Amino acid sequence: VREPDLTGRHVVISAGGTREPLDPVRFLGNRSSGKQGYALARTAAARGARVTLIAANAGLPDPAGVDVVPVGTAVQLREAVLKAAADADAVVMAAAVADFRPQTYAAGKIKKKDGEEPAPVVLVRNPDILAELSADRARPNQVVVGFAAETDDVLANGRTKLRRKGCDLLVVNEVGERRTFGSEENEAVVLGADGSETPVAHGPKEALADIVWDLVAQRLS
Ligand code: PMT
Repeated sequence: VREPDLTGRHVVISAGGTREPLDPVRFLGNRSSGKQGYALARTAAARGARVTLIAANAGLPDPAGVDVVPVGTAVQLREAVLKAAADADAVVMAAAVADFRPQTYAAGKIKKKDGEEPAPVVLVRNPDILAELSADRARPNQVVVGFAAETDDVLANGRTKLRRKGCDLLVVNEVGERRTFGSEENEAVVLGADGSETPVAHGPKEALADIVWDLVAQRLS
């Protein structure tokens, strides 16, 4: 257990996966369970922080002493994160945010019609919340942390993503159908905008969370 080194700090964490609706019964989603984001919330609270957790479709119990804001889509997640970030010392984007959403939403359930091919699903871009948070800091010394979920060329893609997003720290983890998503454990390399690289060995998601907070606390002090 770490010292209460985040006492007096407000931290905002996003967790879970956004769902982008096609009609009242269907959506485009991803495999995030919310466990990594919730581990970040629990460990920050244990270290004394005031914690706002923006939870996208996680379905996990609210961590004790944490302010939980439920959201559904990427657009809703953006609004909730930007609002909470206004007075935050640090923002950690652990949520799996959909890069695209269906261009149109059908008010009634989409039906299959005899003899007709299905209509193609046209996608439009969602806002990049992490890039926006990094470019327009709500406070001058606010620390902005992203995650990178990669399936191939994990570190190389992570390094490119760190530059593109402009955040201070990027936690690079490998994902797959049965990897990282939904599991109790993770392993990662935390890349710093200062060129630092911190490898984190396979272990509980709480252990990775505590290392992220160590790096955030260093940058806040
Ligand atoms: O929830 P679990 O089951 O515990 O799994 C944890 C996890 C694999 C979801 C988590 O560790 C993780 O990697 N989260 C980030 C997933 C993701 O969306 O990665 P990305 O490489 O697509 O996006 C990079 C960063 O930009 C992320 O911080 C993401 O929150 C952010 N982003 C992405 C798209 C977008 N439109 N806006 C964003 O802010």
